[in-house]
Amino acid sequence: MGSSIVYVGMDFGSFKTSVVASHGHRETMHTAVGWAKDHVSRAMLGCDVVIGKNVFEQRMALNVVRPFAKGALKYLASEDVGVSPDDVVKRKEAAQLIVQEAVRKLQIPSGASVFGVVGSPSRAGIDSKKLITEAVQGSFDAVMIVAEPFAVAYGMDRLSETLVVDIGAGTTDICPVYGSYPSEDDQVTIPLGGDAVDETFYSLMSEAHPEAQLSLNMARQIKEKYGFVHDVNEQAVVSLPVEGRPTDINVTESLRESCRTIVEPIVEGIQKTIGHYDPEFQRPLLNNILLGGGGSNLKGLDYMIEQSLEPFGGGKVLRVYDSVFAGADGALKLAMNLPEQYWEQLRSGATGQSDSRNDMLDAA
Ligand SMILES: Nc1ncnc2c1ncn2[C@@H]1O[C@H](COP(=O)(O)OP(=O)(O)OP(=O)(O)O)[C@@H](O)[C@H]1O
Ligand SMILES: [Mg+2]
Repeated sequence: MGSSIVYVGMDFGSFKTSVVASHGHRETMHTAVGWAKDHVSRAMLGCDVVIGKNVFEQRMALNVVRPFAKGALKYLASEDVGVSPDDVVKRKEAAQLIVQEAVRKLQIPSGASVFGVVGSPSRAGIDSKKLITEAVQGSFDAVMIVAEPFAVAYGMDRLSETLVVDIGAGTTDICPVYGSYPSEDDQVTIPLGGDAVDETFYSLMSEAHPEAQLSLNMARQIKEKYGFVHDVNEQAVVSLPVEGRPTDINVTESLRESCRTIVEPIVEGIQKTIGHYDPEFQRPLLNNILLGGGGSNLKGLDYMIEQSLEPFGGGKVLRVYDSVFAGADGALKLAMNLPEQYWEQLRSGATGQSDSRNDMLDAA
């Protein structure tokens, strides 16, 4: 067992972190850490820190930190999103704890070498890459960081002429993959994703149904269950407390309106991205749009993007088969396809970054 290798693929997202390993284990958890608020909370929880899984259930007793909320530390400078230096330190600690916990959950046999590929936001800035590298380093014997959309496309064998649209919580990343590793200039990041939809839904509901008691977390859960963007006859009716009494409330209009807010920016982002290429190359990309990320589950979104592209000659949109694990599965596949000697080089040197792009494509 001492010389065995376990390969790991990780999608380190702002909302959730998913990991899969070559020995068959997989795990997903929220990218969140909660510290007990006080002595009472600590006694109730039986610990100081809750990582990942139960953070939202236990949030009343916790100070919750989502290290990458609103794109902070991922692709935006922390000062641009109002994160104080103290907060940055806490977020860094949280990021490290999440990676450790995710890898621990994989139950890797002791003594095995752990080689990991981690998908990070496609346009993570230098500071963010540094943070992600620091957060992951201690948990792997060698680690390589790749653009998340590349990992998604790699996992689905769509490395030529594919436009990946990864709709996450904090951001939507639009990234063309066409037989070479995507450069930063090729990609577009929109600072909008599921979190923004939740916030809009929450505020529309406060206007339309001020009597209903709703939290942001409940708004997200309703969106995940009923969220849609197309015109449907069905109604979304949910039970919400009104003065403490469960009451059926029709949320159809507020929900549709909020879910639709991301469609236009996505279509504009697609046009902006393909606009960088000569016209002959634009058509294949438009005919091969791959929707990933949790936000891709919004009902009717694939169809609505196709419809919105009609004035521009149309397009074809496909969803990934499993938005939770698509990135991690692709990262694992890449990890396993890279030659062992490459991993050994990484083990003895620095973390792999996108400068190793040609090696990756040779492995593809
Ligand atoms: N069934 C669903 N319908 C609509 N939205 C969903 C559904 N499931 C998850 N989501 C939303 O997807 C978002 C999370 O997506 P994902 O897990 O891909 O994010 P992430 O990779 O952690 O974030 P990012 O890519 O921004 O770093 C959340 O806003 C979540 O509410
Ligand atoms: Mg993501």
